Amino acid sequence: MRDNRLVSDIKSSLNIADIIGRYTSLRRSGRSYSGLCPFHDERTPSFHVYTDTQTYYCFGCHEAGDIFTFVMKKNGLTFPEAVETLAEQAGIDTSKYKTSPRKRERSLYDIMDMAGDYFRDCLKRLPGGRAYLERRGISIKDAENFGLGYAPDSWDGLIQAMRRKGVNDREMIDAGLVIENEKGIYDRFRGRVIFPVQNLSGRITAFGGRAVAESPAKYINSPESDIYHKRSSLYLINRASSSIREKQYSILCEGYMDALRLHKAGFTESVATLGTSLTEEQANLLKRFADMCYICYDTDSAGINASVRGMYILAENGLDVRIVSLPNGKDPDEFLSLSKNPHESFIKAMNESLPLIKFHIEALRPMLENQRTKKNALRELWEGVKRVPAEDALKNLTELSTAFMIPHDEMRSRILNANGSSISVTVNTNYAPESVVIDNALECAFCALLMRYRECRLRIKPDEIYGLLTDSETQFTAEALLNDNPDEMMNLWRAIGDNVRLEIIAKGDMFLSEVKGEGWQGKWERVLSDLEALRVKRRIAEISAKLTTNTATHDEAAEFSSLMKTMETYRNQ
Ligand code: UTP
Ligand code: MN
Repeated sequence: MRDNRLVSDIKSSLNIADIIGRYTSLRRSGRSYSGLCPFHDERTPSFHVYTDTQTYYCFGCHEAGDIFTFVMKKNGLTFPEAVETLAEQAGIDTSKYKTSPRKRERSLYDIMDMAGDYFRDCLKRLPGGRAYLERRGISIKDAENFGLGYAPDSWDGLIQAMRRKGVNDREMIDAGLVIENEKGIYDRFRGRVIFPVQNLSGRITAFGGRAVAESPAKYINSPESDIYHKRSSLYLINRASSSIREKQYSILCEGYMDALRLHKAGFTESVATLGTSLTEEQANLLKRFADMCYICYDTDSAGINASVRGMYILAENGLDVRIVSLPNGKDPDEFLSLSKNPHESFIKAMNESLPLIKFHIEALRPMLENQRTKKNALRELWEGVKRVPAEDALKNLTELSTAFMIPHDEMRSRILNANGSSISVTVNTNYAPESVVIDNALECAFCALLMRYRECRLRIKPDEIYGLLTDSETQFTAEALLNDNPDEMMNLWRAIGDNVRLEIIAKGDMFLSEVKGEGWQGKWERVLSDLEALRVKRRIAEISAKLTTNTATHDEAAEFSSLMKTMETYRNQ
């Protein structure tokens, strides 16, 4: 096996632009280069070399790769030959990288397997681990089935066993099985039940250890290594992948025990993140098998917002995320252990799951209902919504327009504008907020006054707005300004790009600069009396239509004559 340190050393000593520059002339543009494609005939340059990533791509023939693929394709070499060629050009002596035949026979995977054997053997031989698992309702058969083991409470149990099998200290260190200090090495896992973490092909890449006695660290886990990358690992993925594909959804929980218990209850599509926040790599791993994912975390309300933020990474990467909430903040392990019909109970909880955005709104509910925290809650919600592909966010349109107090059509256009989406390109021209024509300058001026002057806000009650204003946009704006802190509303509108709101205020300000009247009070009186006059006119037109068709009530007829008198006073002003 070739040492991949050689490959990365070659990559870091050569510059891809120099190598490719020998075959085609490259022109610098910013941090990349472009030139005529060396792989196909062309007259305008569509071949690009990116020095950031040390890769190339041709927009014409779609050839892509790094220095190794370039040399392989251009010179018809195999990968090892390309490595030799480029190493020579970089002045690197490849013999230094050749590993001894003895070591080449044994990879880190083999070391992890040997450690796994040792831990399993200890679980059989020694009582400590078995007693703990029994207490938690995990039988010997379950333990065997899931490859669980036991690390005795010893500083060198594993080390001695591995040395007997000819494993050297370096290998144990590289595998993360031992900890090194100035005096030497000692076992990383002591007095713990061992959970093997396997990759998709079933090879052990890491271990998790659950303390069987009181310990400051309930769990400890293997460190990152050449074969273990936390970011892209999920516990039990190797057992779950085919079920996930079959059922077309995955179940994601937090703990080793949760995933194990779910499998035991028949939910073989379950995997666990290992105490870390969710990553894009994990999202993509799950998405390879199914687009839908049920998340079942223990939701104590303290950590809920942070964990919701983490869940958006899955939605962002195209997963349809549902949140399963279990009663009393129980984790799946506790819930299933306590339940008489674990399978049915969990299915029921899954059926009551909420799509991520709905769940987020529910989680924010207390903040949304408190005037002091509402703005922050909305901003937080919007941060999440922006990350979800528009098509998916739109599935929650009703809930979102209610939460943001924005009409459906507008909420829709805002989502389409904010969320990078293929449909936004075609649809948003029809719904773009900019295209909403606001021709009622007087109503805008009214909103601008409400926004700017507390005194104006004190002079009007929210339910009076609907008589005074006719435009639903200005109605919404005025209502929001009266019900909430206007400065914070403006900030929110800026943050979410609510152009309709912002335009109303801007247009109102412009109109106000031309309204005659002393200070805010003069302008307010002017605007209000004009709006009043318009309201009277509208009412007069309404009743007079009824009068001509003889459908006006007695009261309306009386109202009509009083309105006509009011009109007189306006006219005389
Ligand atoms: P929890 O604290 O929820 O524990 O951590 P749990 O899974 O319910 O553990 P049990 O049921 O008491 O055995 C959830 C997960 O976070 C990781 C582990 O993967 C754990 O399963 N974790 C937790 C750690 O890595 N280290 C810790 O100290 C605690
Ligand atoms: Mn638990």
